[in-house]
Amino acid sequence: MVLTHVQELDDAAAASAVVFASRYVQEPLPRYELGEKSISKDAAYQIIHDELLLDSSPRLNLASFVTTWMEPECDRLILEGINKNYADMDEYPVTTELQNRCVNIIARLFNAPVGAGEKAVGVGTVGSSEAIMLAGLAFKRRWQHRRKAAGKPCDRPNIVTGANVQVCWEKFARYFEVELKEVKLREGCYVMDPDEAVAMVDENTICVAAILGSTLTGEFEDVRRLNDLLAARNRRTGWGTPIHVDAASGGFIAPFLYPELEWDFRLPLVKSINVSGHKYGLVYAGVGWVIWRSKEDLPEDLIFHINYLGADQPTFTLNFSKGIDHPTARGPSRSTNSISDMSNSVQGPARSSRSITSSSD
Ligand SMILES: Cc1ncc(COP(=O)(O)O)c(C=O)c1O
Repeated sequence: MVLTHVQELDDAAAASAVVFASRYVQEPLPRYELGEKSISKDAAYQIIHDELLLDSSPRLNLASFVTTWMEPECDRLILEGINKNYADMDEYPVTTELQNRCVNIIARLFNAPVGAGEKAVGVGTVGSSEAIMLAGLAFKRRWQHRRKAAGKPCDRPNIVTGANVQVCWEKFARYFEVELKEVKLREGCYVMDPDEAVAMVDENTICVAAILGSTLTGEFEDVRRLNDLLAARNRRTGWGTPIHVDAASGGFIAPFLYPELEWDFRLPLVKSINVSGHKYGLVYAGVGWVIWRSKEDLPEDLIFHINYLGADQPTFTLNFSKGIDHPTARGPSRSTNSISDMSNSVQGPARSSRSITSSSD
């Protein structure tokens, strides 16, 4: 089917239609609407390429934490996978397997209690922001289940964080209708004070979020102290308030530089951790992870089982179609983009989609 009308050029005209001298660049292109006439692909390329020259150079951009250079072999792998749609994982079982391996490697790096033959629970995301949305949803849903089972109201969830949280936590709170209770910073203390955080917890608190690598200063919050204080409070109240660690920046730093520091799943109240693959990992933007301590921490009713592309594909993501380049080129040493879980239900390359793999197979 012909979708566009391409103006015919005879061979001589085509040969002489060097882009900069051609009629294509003599009239300005309409800015906000489709043009009446078609334009040659060489000219279209050149015009867009030239406009993009006005962007600044990513290599000179020191404003964000995202790395801007990858090994040439990674560039090749990315290009080789660029035409695959991650939504259709039955067609790409090897990619799925690579992603599941990434989730497992990261979970073990974060000391998740995963036995030798078990698979970890986690998912690859676009970045830490999507990872935090998913982790936050899991906390909200678990809290709602507990409250409903106890016959208590579940319409006023809140989350306790430091006022230094990254904007994605505010987004989560607003988009998913959770009150954000922020511990104020004070002169000389620019991260969340665990004592104050625990004092703000109440029966409606779905989790306390600690940051490993504050966006503003890079400082690690004291997750160990938070865990101990919260555990004592949970014993008194019976609320069972859990912890999420936002390790967007610190997750691929702490295990290597400070292996003795306890901030991860070694602490019993830490139920989920997010990390950005694209920070500090020589990886281009577009990769994050969320890992859960165990399958009990990811409510089953958040997992969608989609089967219209073939076999059962369990997913817990915010979107459907998605590029596939990350897992192949941006594995955990570099970071990636996948989801693997521990539940029995979803395992093996042929069945596990870009979504969730499970522990016991
Ligand atoms: C602590 C923290 N959390 C979350 C994010 C969001 O991460 P991403 O850009 O990977 O979505 C950032 C980004 O700077 C961050 O510093």
